[in-house]
Amino acid sequence: MKVTRSLICFAILLGLFVMACRNSSSENAKGLRSADSIAKTDNARDAHSYSNHEQVRVRHVTLHLEVLFDRKVLKGSSTLTIERVKPDADSLKLDTRDLKVIKAETSNDGKSFAPAQFTLGAADKILGASLAIQLPPQATKVRIEYETSPNASGVQWLEPAQTAGKKHPYVFTQSQAIHARSWIPLQDSPGVRVTYSAEIRTPKGLRAVMSASLADNNKTLQPGTHKFEMPQAIPPYLIALAAGDIAFKQLGNRTGVYTEPAMLDKAAREFEDTEKMVVATEKLYGPYRWDRYDILVLPPSFPIGGMENPRLTFATPTVLAGDKSLVSLIAHELAHSWSGNLVTNATWRDFWLNEGFTTYLERRVTEAIYGREREEMEAALGLQSLKKVIEDLPDADEILHVDLAGRDPDDGFTLVPYEKGALFLRLLEETFGRERFDQFLKGYFERFAFQSITTDDFIAHLKKNLLDPNPELAAKIPLEEWIYKPGLPASAPKPQSDAFAKVEAQAKEWLDGKTPAAKLQTKQWTTQEWLHFLRFLPQQLIANQLKELDQAFGMTKIGNAEIAHQWLLISIRNNYDTAYPRLEEYLTSIGRQKLIKPLYEELVKTPAGKERAQKIYARARPGYHPIAQTAVDKIVKKA
Ligand code: BES
Ligand code: ZN
Repeated sequence: MKVTRSLICFAILLGLFVMACRNSSSENAKGLRSADSIAKTDNARDAHSYSNHEQVRVRHVTLHLEVLFDRKVLKGSSTLTIERVKPDADSLKLDTRDLKVIKAETSNDGKSFAPAQFTLGAADKILGASLAIQLPPQATKVRIEYETSPNASGVQWLEPAQTAGKKHPYVFTQSQAIHARSWIPLQDSPGVRVTYSAEIRTPKGLRAVMSASLADNNKTLQPGTHKFEMPQAIPPYLIALAAGDIAFKQLGNRTGVYTEPAMLDKAAREFEDTEKMVVATEKLYGPYRWDRYDILVLPPSFPIGGMENPRLTFATPTVLAGDKSLVSLIAHELAHSWSGNLVTNATWRDFWLNEGFTTYLERRVTEAIYGREREEMEAALGLQSLKKVIEDLPDADEILHVDLAGRDPDDGFTLVPYEKGALFLRLLEETFGRERFDQFLKGYFERFAFQSITTDDFIAHLKKNLLDPNPELAAKIPLEEWIYKPGLPASAPKPQSDAFAKVEAQAKEWLDGKTPAAKLQTKQWTTQEWLHFLRFLPQQLIANQLKELDQAFGMTKIGNAEIAHQWLLISIRNNYDTAYPRLEEYLTSIGRQKLIKPLYEELVKTPAGKERAQKIYARARPGYHPIAQTAVDKIVKKA
């Protein structure tokens, strides 16, 4: 009896011990799963889509949409050409958000359509609602008649007052990451690739543009009708539309800029190096595969810096600094034509494959056109920001192969995939040599062109083509640590900027009271040097010091949106009230999240600042994009 009891106790203890060992091998102290414990199938699944593309795949999307400015609604139909992966699949599952689905139909021959049963699921706060459509065995097309909600998360409607020209309304979409579903019912996963065509109707006199080519008969169309064709298969988050009073100016052979007439010349001057950038990127990574490369400069409420919509980058007007100092944003969005649009992250947890690669490519193009010094300054600023971000981030969010299940991918996006990703590639470059690494990247874009791939796919390719053939060099790359561990690895490359060392010396002279601000040698400083100077200053300054800088350099009046941002941050921190009218003007005229969110975050740290934030936000909010509203709501309401 006694023996059996101790045997049972022993067995239980042994069982617990084995379980504990298993757990500790697959989960580290912080509960993070290690690489090998994640099954391949698990990795390839997109946690942010209801789509059943393993069974039925959408191959082509045909849009017929009318832009109804008075109701703030896009209304029409989306016809999906489908292909069965599993022959017996009897329903098509799509993603939607806040869509009013009027009718679903299917067709066997693409000509005659018959009504189909459909079920719109309950709306999830993050994912939206699934739309399941019954498929007859022979169906090849599905047509959905629908309209969008005025609050669609991926669409911003601007009153004429919110545009530069003040006369015409404006609308634009922003589909990444999971907002395409708020204006098109489709399989909204980056693992799905579709070609698309579109016919867009606008009020006469307005121009519509899309991430596609103009169908060539556009000249013969009725006024207010615009036709587009995207013949290359792209992930749905790259489908984009804008309409308003938009003019065009040619830059080079295959490059040009679209924007409101009032901004056209300024934008064309700022982006005059675009054609050169295309040539430089091609030289490094192979042919530009998308025919034209144009840029659309949006009104200031555009919520992000840039969006790599194929053939037509969408860009914030806050990069129009007048001196081309912020155009690496164009290098970045252009580089996505290789990393992101040609080779795409299969799920949002592979986002670093898009952004880390692109940030690395951006720096290489910047170096090719503006020189190594400028590139190193930008890399150094990037590294500084990364280090700061890492101080406050939870460990799990510092991992390149980040787990975003159950979360809004918009929340998971930080500088980590960008800067840590880029540093990893730079480490490969420095370890294997530029020539070999450039060859590797060229081969990578060739090998996976027009495919969506996971982190596992990349790693397998990396091992096969770079690491395994060079075992001695490969031993210097702590791959596991870079991809699956939090923090910045000790092996991270260190950008070297002499210019920044000089800026620091100047800053110290001033801080130590040796040289008054007006006597500092700042005449030749670029935007990057100013940014470094301002970031280098201690968090707490005295009122007189701010006043001195302001008098010497006119800081409060500076138009450069990046420098102004940095100055306003310092002003809030140090309660420099001379800058408050400028702060209010800034926050009510710009909607780019990267520039406005940190200012609100800084404001809400004190009771007086909180009050100021609420007062300004009440005025600013209606002008912000829905995505920015959600983000700033969280900051101001939480406070
Ligand atoms: N693709 C991103 C923008 C994006 C990311 C939109 C995630 C929605 C979700 C774009 O290429 C980008 O990275 N833009 C940056 C500018 C860049 C120079 C770092 C931005 O908007 O700030
Ligand atoms: Zn990007």
